[in-house]
Amino acid sequence: MPANKAVPANKGATKAFVIVGAGLAGAKAAEALRDLGFDGTISLIGDEGHLPYERPPLSKDYLAGKASRDSVFVHDQDWYQRQEIDLRLGSPAATIDRAARQVRLDDGGRLPYDKLLIATGSSPRQLPGASGVHYLRTIDDSDRLKEVLATRSHLAVIGGGWIGLEVAAAARQAGLEVTVLETLDLPLLRVLGREMAQVFADVHRSNGVSLRLGVRIEEVLSGGSTAKPQATGVRLADGTRIDADAILAGIGAVPRTGLASDAGLDVSDGIVTTAALRTSDPDIFAAGDVASAFHPLLGEHVRVEHWANALKQPAVAAAAMIGQEASYEDLPYFYTDQYDLGMEYVGHVSGGGYDQVVVRGDLEARQFIAFWLKEGRVKAGMNVNVWDVTDSVKALIRSGHPVDAAALADPGTALDDLAAG
Ligand SMILES: Cc1cc2nc3c(=O)[nH]c(=O)nc-3n(C[C@H](O)[C@H](O)[C@H](O)COP(=O)(O)OP(=O)(O)OC[C@H]3O[C@@H](n4cnc5c(N)ncnc54)[C@H](O)[C@@H]3O)c2cc1C
Ligand SMILES: NC(=O)c1ccc[n+]([C@@H]2O[C@H](COP(=O)([O-])OP(=O)(O)OC[C@H]3O[C@@H](n4cnc5c(N)ncnc54)[C@H](O)[C@@H]3O)[C@@H](O)[C@H]2O)c1
Repeated sequence: MPANKAVPANKGATKAFVIVGAGLAGAKAAEALRDLGFDGTISLIGDEGHLPYERPPLSKDYLAGKASRDSVFVHDQDWYQRQEIDLRLGSPAATIDRAARQVRLDDGGRLPYDKLLIATGSSPRQLPGASGVHYLRTIDDSDRLKEVLATRSHLAVIGGGWIGLEVAAAARQAGLEVTVLETLDLPLLRVLGREMAQVFADVHRSNGVSLRLGVRIEEVLSGGSTAKPQATGVRLADGTRIDADAILAGIGAVPRTGLASDAGLDVSDGIVTTAALRTSDPDIFAAGDVASAFHPLLGEHVRVEHWANALKQPAVAAAAMIGQEASYEDLPYFYTDQYDLGMEYVGHVSGGGYDQVVVRGDLEARQFIAFWLKEGRVKAGMNVNVWDVTDSVKALIRSGHPVDAAALADPGTALDDLAAG
């Protein structure tokens, strides 16, 4: 057991905790349990063959060849040994037997649990009927895409969401011709709304991306062999044909809820949890992309498919697993880097959840903070090429105070003063 823990949280009992899903959330949960002094058995079960790793670099520096493979791992192999984590890689969990309190593995093995955490993440939504298309979720996918960037000259990207735009930027920077095909009128429209989605459309167009908006893919054309099909282009509903050397589809992610729903847990989009990340079974918890957790400040269940959530939720789940009072109340946060645009977004605006966007700074120069307001209150903020303001934006959202739009737009007014009311 870790040597520096004076008072084990489960003193006097040897308990078995199982974590299914060895991604960021799974690894962070194992770490948090040890940090909290849990000295029972921790089994961390992953279906991928790699140590738990972080995905953001897979569409950015790792894809561009600027970050090494070692830099993406959450911990090195020794760490799991030192912490006495029973790490089982390449070992999919097949079912959860709640009556017997066991996880059954694909290889037939059974793992009893006292508490179970499901951190199975999400997987790319598939384009129906398309073969030879690339997707990007795993480090192996990123390696394959890296090869594409090194050897091909025209990449077509289906989907102008986070994956599509980040890969488009990496591909342009690698010198490829890039076409992005998006169903909606603007990229990132659902998450950012029209005003700020336009900023991303402009960034990509000014970097030479051919952005085809409001299009419908009728057919993905493919060649190559049956064993190794290769997408060669697309035909749009209006009959236009776009030829490409490779196609990446980034059309959304689907939470991996199968284990939970098969086990009869409440699932609605994600695995439904309380603010303590407890599912409808008091001994089973969920965290990361797969969890639809009640958020006390937002007053609704939210499922966040972003890194910071997978990084921080596990500490709350771990505390709840060892019987402590815990509640996850961080505001959703995410970031992106595309060309020379770096941004951070904090807050939550569900569809139609704002009636005003206020900009502080220089929109043209792409150095500004945008705020989404509803009835005069700030619901979310995005800083673009402006740094160290996230805490102030969070405070403004949390305050719930109505703010004066002119003061909010004025860089001379401190955000903290507005938050103080
Ligand atoms: C390419 C890419 C770039 C991204 N960039 C950003 C970014 O810049 N900023 C940001 O905020 N977010 C980003 N994200 C999102 C962020 O990476 C995810 O929110 C985060 O990975 C979620 O972590 P997780 O541990 O919940 O799930 P995952 O990372 O998906 O890990 C879940 C793990 O569980 C495994 N698993 C699933 N089912 C089973 C089973 N039955 N048995 C065993 N194992 C199983 C999966 O294979 C996977 O290894 C990016 C995502 C991708 C794909
Ligand atoms: N910076 C970040 O935070 C970041 C970066 C990369 C990935 N991610 C995460 O990875 C996951 C997957 O990302 P994603 O970009 O695939 O999903 P997304 O939901 O961000 O974007 C999907 C886009 O594809 C479009 N689309 C859907 N079907 C289409 C079709 N048939 N033809 C054309 N366009 C279509 C949608 O309108 C949307 O714009 C998400 O969870 C995302 O949050 C996050």
